[in-house]
Amino acid sequence: MPDPVVDAESPGSEQALDELLSRPTPALIEFIRSVSSPLLILGAGGKMGPSLAWLAHRAAEAAGHRLEVIATSRFAQSEKRAWFEERGIGTAVCEVFDAGSLARLPDAADILCLVGLKFGTAANPAVTWATNTLTPVRVCERFPRARIVALSTGNVYPLSEVRRGGSVETDALTPLGEYANAAVGRERMFEFCAARLGTRVALLRLFYAVELRYGVLVDVARRVHSGEPIDLANGAFNCIWQGDANERILRALGLATSPPSVWNLCRPEVLSVRTVATQFGERFGRAPRFRGAESATALLGNAAKLGAVLGEPPVSVARMMDWIADWIRRGGRDLGRPTHFEERNGVY
Ligand SMILES: NC(=O)c1ccc[n+]([C@@H]2O[C@H](COP(=O)([O-])OP(=O)(O)OC[C@H]3O[C@@H](n4cnc5c(N)ncnc54)[C@H](OP(=O)(O)O)[C@@H]3O)[C@@H](O)[C@H]2O)c1
Repeated sequence: MPDPVVDAESPGSEQALDELLSRPTPALIEFIRSVSSPLLILGAGGKMGPSLAWLAHRAAEAAGHRLEVIATSRFAQSEKRAWFEERGIGTAVCEVFDAGSLARLPDAADILCLVGLKFGTAANPAVTWATNTLTPVRVCERFPRARIVALSTGNVYPLSEVRRGGSVETDALTPLGEYANAAVGRERMFEFCAARLGTRVALLRLFYAVELRYGVLVDVARRVHSGEPIDLANGAFNCIWQGDANERILRALGLATSPPSVWNLCRPEVLSVRTVATQFGERFGRAPRFRGAESATALLGNAAKLGAVLGEPPVSVARMMDWIADWIRRGGRDLGRPTHFEERNGVY
């Protein structure tokens, strides 16, 4: 029987892409029955939150489970708020630096926390530290009895030997650069609050979510397509289809514990930048241009621990690459938010 996501047609529009990214799996439809209403998604206005909120809403509808999903963000652009509301998702303005705005949110027993800041750190490190480390305190103090899935990042690890196959959850968190250290701070503050308040937390260290408008595979593909040279120094990476990442973020509510549980989140394979670029070159009928050579180390994670509990993410790398190549050939939109996957010094 064809799988509704893996065997889907290549999305030809942003509407079709958003619909694909938010198509629930049977495992999620089953799990969503255990999620309490309202489900609060904090920091839902960024790249992942919209499709995550719609996925939760659609899974609940498919399960016949009454679940109000509330997406919060600062909502500087009103169109973003309308996007949620048109799909039956509630919205609320929340600025984490303003304790009053958290106090005004409804009580909730299940929370997904996507709030974070990465880019712009070099110019204004203080706001990165404040965003990443105050958020856990404000959120846990407001919702001490909740189950919280908090997004962290693979950047909490230092670069590791490529041949090792990726950092594991018990490795030391000794990365380079202020963003990565503020991300370690985000985890440590969740850990501290969970110990002090008994809040249940699952920390997900995500490595590169990918859809068609942004992501590490898109960055490589667009460079191949435009003939721009591709830097090989950071020559290996992990990634995951954003729909698969979002499905796991929701199901990780069942993994929230005090002290927090910690999970790497990505597909199982370590990908080579050179190989992926060459394969995009075959799809576009043009050879990629490279600069430099691969180092022995890269930012890599091993997600076997989460895979053993929730199963492996279904959307393959080849499938993502086909969809991305089609999207670029059709002139599909790019968010203009490059991942800077080539960065090795932690400066963002
Ligand atoms: N996407 C990836 O590939 C990836 C990889 C690794 C880790 N992650 C982590 O996953 C999470 C979600 O990713 P994303 O790509 O969706 O992130 P994103 O696009 O940067 O969105 C971050 C969200 O945080 C919110 N935020 C920032 N400062 C805030 C503040 N002071 N008060 C309230 N909200 C604030 C933003 O709100 P506004 O909408 O109001 O701006 C936005 O909704 C992030 O924490 C990120 O660290 C993502």
